Amino acid sequence: MKTQRVGVILIGINGYGFRFLQETFRLETLGEVRLQAVIDPAAAQNPEWAYLQSTGVPAFDDLKDCLDSGIEADLVVIVSPIAFHASQTCAALAAGMDVLCEKPICATMAEARRMMAARDASGRYLEIGYQWSFSSPVQALKTDILAGRLGSLRSLRTCVAWPRGEVYFQRNNWAGRVRDPEGRPVFDSPVNNATAHFLHNMLFVAGISPTLSATPKIIEAECYRGNLIENFDTACCRLETVEGPEVLFFTTHCTKEKIGPQFSFSCDEAQIEYTAGGSIIARLSNGDQKDYGNPEGDPMEKFRYCLDRCRDPHKFPAVCGPEAAIAHTSCVQGFQATPVIALPASQLQYSNDKPETKLTFLPGLDAEILEGYRKGLLFSEMKLPWSSPATRVSLPVGPTETIGAREASGLS
Ligand SMILES: NC(=O)c1ccc[n+]([C@@H]2O[C@H](COP(=O)([O-])OP(=O)(O)OC[C@H]3O[C@@H](n4cnc5c(N)ncnc54)[C@H](O)[C@@H]3O)[C@@H](O)[C@H]2O)c1
Repeated sequence: MKTQRVGVILIGINGYGFRFLQETFRLETLGEVRLQAVIDPAAAQNPEWAYLQSTGVPAFDDLKDCLDSGIEADLVVIVSPIAFHASQTCAALAAGMDVLCEKPICATMAEARRMMAARDASGRYLEIGYQWSFSSPVQALKTDILAGRLGSLRSLRTCVAWPRGEVYFQRNNWAGRVRDPEGRPVFDSPVNNATAHFLHNMLFVAGISPTLSATPKIIEAECYRGNLIENFDTACCRLETVEGPEVLFFTTHCTKEKIGPQFSFSCDEAQIEYTAGGSIIARLSNGDQKDYGNPEGDPMEKFRYCLDRCRDPHKFPAVCGPEAAIAHTSCVQGFQATPVIALPASQLQYSNDKPETKLTFLPGLDAEILEGYRKGLLFSEMKLPWSSPATRVSLPVGPTETIGAREASGLS
């Protein structure tokens, strides 16, 4: 077992990485962590920059400079843009350090496979930061499903509508983009970024072992855009999985009202429901009810779990490694093989009370998402006037299959 104080390198400290920086400071005062270095080309813009400098923690523009300097750590936490996840993960593992990489694992299946190979070659661990998967409520629910206590899992549905305006899409040079300005794939969308958690969660819960997700086999996907972005901001899909359960997902940023996440999972012996802010509740057919708690409760639990895993890898096994996270990436390939349809410009509205809150939204989309979610119908199956038939894509279920081979366009 390693020393109690775990050495950490943080990559990406503004954006979401700021939360890790704050948690690291808190854990440092408790003697649990030592911040060895930060890596971020814009580190000087961090609100804690003056403090960081006063502590003497080395700061680098890129990971290579840090590794070349000989600095070592137990754990590297990667919260950089999606385009860098694969290369930074592989470099950190090759340097002999464990890695917690933020979700999504990366942009492409090829990158994910490289990350797995680097993990295997290094003997270190790689976890992907889907915080719900590390949460006690989701772990307990998955344990009950795997133990057969709720009957066979048949279907899973989730909907989420999170308003995201100009500030969100202009906060960096890759938001809403297919590729970043250097041409690296990012596939940024609500599916691959802000609401990725909730598609991943369904796949994770439906996995046939604690560390596996269900394998998507066929995706019927629809993609739309209201914002002036390259990729899409609204989508829905139906997935067939190798393991059997059907998965339905609805998401948008082109909304004024916030919905969810909200999910409903059907098992032979139970109905499982969750609405944002509440608890995951299973209602069993024998009349019993089980409250699993709120999966949002402790978003930094994943970080502390990884620190514990560095201290004692036998006591703290893998939770959400690449094998669990790659199922989501496979779905993203399907979405990216789907044409993006423009939402009707004449119906879009804009709220711009203040420049920083400027938001593009399609009135009524929130209610339509809820209706699709409740009825189990994609936008086109509800015959929404702006919708277009789903694209059906075969997804890779084994190492030899090609990615995103389109079966046919349109549903009959
Ligand atoms: N788990 C969650 O709830 C959650 C929430 C938000 C974001 N995220 C994930 O965190 C990651 C970052 O998202 P974000 O919204 O903070 O992005 P962002 O673009 O707002 O911030 C990225 C940070 O990385 C820095 N950076 C850019 N290039 C870098 C490089 N080559 N090396 C090191 N640092 C670099 C930037 O300067 C910035 O500080 C994404 O994968 C995103 O999906 C996760």
